[in-house]
Amino acid sequence: MGESRIRIGLLGYGTVGSAFVDLLESQKSTILSRTGLELVVTHIAVSDLNKDRPGLDTQTVLTDKPSEVIENNEVDLVVELMGGLLPARDLVKAALEKNKPVITANKELLSKEGKYLFMLAGERNVDLLFEAAVAGGIPLIRVLRESLLGEPVEKIMGIVNGTTNYILSQMEENGMPYSEALLEAQKLGYAESDPTADVSGQDAASKAAIIAMVAFGADVSLDDVLFEGIQNISSADVAFASRAGCAIKLLAMISKHGHELEVQVYPALLPNSHPLSSVRDSFNAVFVEGTAVDSLMLFGRGAGGMPTASAVLGDVIDAALNLSNKTYRGMEDLKEVSLLPSGEQKSAYYVSVQVVDEPGVLATVALVFAKSDISIQTMEQEGMGREAHLVFITHEVEESRLEDALSQLSNLSCVEKLGTVIRVLEA
Ligand code: HSE
Repeated sequence: MGESRIRIGLLGYGTVGSAFVDLLESQKSTILSRTGLELVVTHIAVSDLNKDRPGLDTQTVLTDKPSEVIENNEVDLVVELMGGLLPARDLVKAALEKNKPVITANKELLSKEGKYLFMLAGERNVDLLFEAAVAGGIPLIRVLRESLLGEPVEKIMGIVNGTTNYILSQMEENGMPYSEALLEAQKLGYAESDPTADVSGQDAASKAAIIAMVAFGADVSLDDVLFEGIQNISSADVAFASRAGCAIKLLAMISKHGHELEVQVYPALLPNSHPLSSVRDSFNAVFVEGTAVDSLMLFGRGAGGMPTASAVLGDVIDAALNLSNKTYRGMEDLKEVSLLPSGEQKSAYYVSVQVVDEPGVLATVALVFAKSDISIQTMEQEGMGREAHLVFITHEVEESRLEDALSQLSNLSCVEKLGTVIRVLEA
C-alpha cells in the first residue's frame, strides 16, 4: 500500500475538537497500517490563543483566525467543529471553493444551508461529510448513503436528542418532575444552561431535516420541519404511559405517505414492545423500516466528545482516502418534495383534561368527542375535586379534527385546563 500524508486543518478546539485530536493521535499507526494514510492535524483555529493546551503537539500551528487555516496551502482537508451557523457557513464555503474536502459535525449549518453546500461540494468534486451531525457516534449517515443506497426506505424513527431522552427516562424511572430531571441533565452536562434548543425539539428537528435529505434525497430544511418539545410533559403523563405499557419518547419521524413525506418531531407514547421504547438515559437510536430490509435499529451515544470524535474520524479517513485516490462521494441533487400537511395526519392521541369533579362532567366532555366523531379507546379519572383529571386515549383521528375538539373542550365551564396532548403510536 502506498503511503500519503494528509494535512488536516481543524476549526474549533472545544470538547469534540480536542477529543478528535486525541483520538487521531492514539489511532495514527492503526490508520496508517490499515489505509496507508498518515493523518496529521497541522493547523487549529482556537478562540483563545492564550489558553494552555499541554497535550498538543508543539508542531501544530494555532491561530485565532479560522480563515488562515482554510487559506493555508499546507492544509489539505478541513474539519469544522465550531458549531453554529456563522461564521461556520462562510468558512465551509471558502474551504469548498478552494477544493478542500470538509468534514463537519454542524447540524444547524446543514439543516439550514445543506442544499447549497452539497451543490458547491459537487461542483468542486470534493467531499462534504457530516456523520457526526446526526446522532453523534452512531454511523447512521454512512449506513443510509452506502448500505441502504438501493433500499426502498419507507420510514425512519429516531431518538436523536440525548438530553430529552435522559429527562424522559429520569421522569419515568425515578418519578422526577420535569424541572428536576432537567436540572439533573444540566448538572451532568447534557443540557445547556439555556436548554431551549434541546427541550423544544429544535435540535432533533435539525437532525430530522438532514435525515430527510440523505434518506429521501428531499430538499427539506429546518424551516420545513414541524417540531414539538417535551416542556409540557408532566410526571403524571409519564406515569400514565407507564401503566398503559408505553414509554414517552421524543421522536424524529421521517416517513413516506404515498407521494408525500412526513418530517416532524414530537413526543409520543410508544408501546414497550417497540425497540425504541427501551432506549434509556442519554442514548440515541434510529429505527429504519424498508421494503426489502424490513426493520433495523442503530443504537449508541448521540453526543459527547469521544463518540462524536469517532464519527468525525471515520469521515476524515474516508475523505482522506478519496483525496488520495482523486475521487469523492457526492450527494444526489436534492429534489422538491410535498410535505404531508400537519392537519391531515392521523394518529391516536392521549388527551389529559383537568375538570371540576361533578356529576355530568364526564358526559359533557365525552359529548364533545362524540360530536367531533372522535372515538375513545380508553378513559381514566385521576384525582378529585378541582384537581380531577380525565385522561382519554382516542382512536385514530386527523390532527385538525382533534384540534377542533380541543378548542371546544377548552371553552367548557367544567374544564379547568387542557392538559397534555400526545400522540400514541402503534408497536
Ligand atoms: N444536545 C444534543 C443532545 C447533542 O442532547 O443530544 C448535540 O446535537
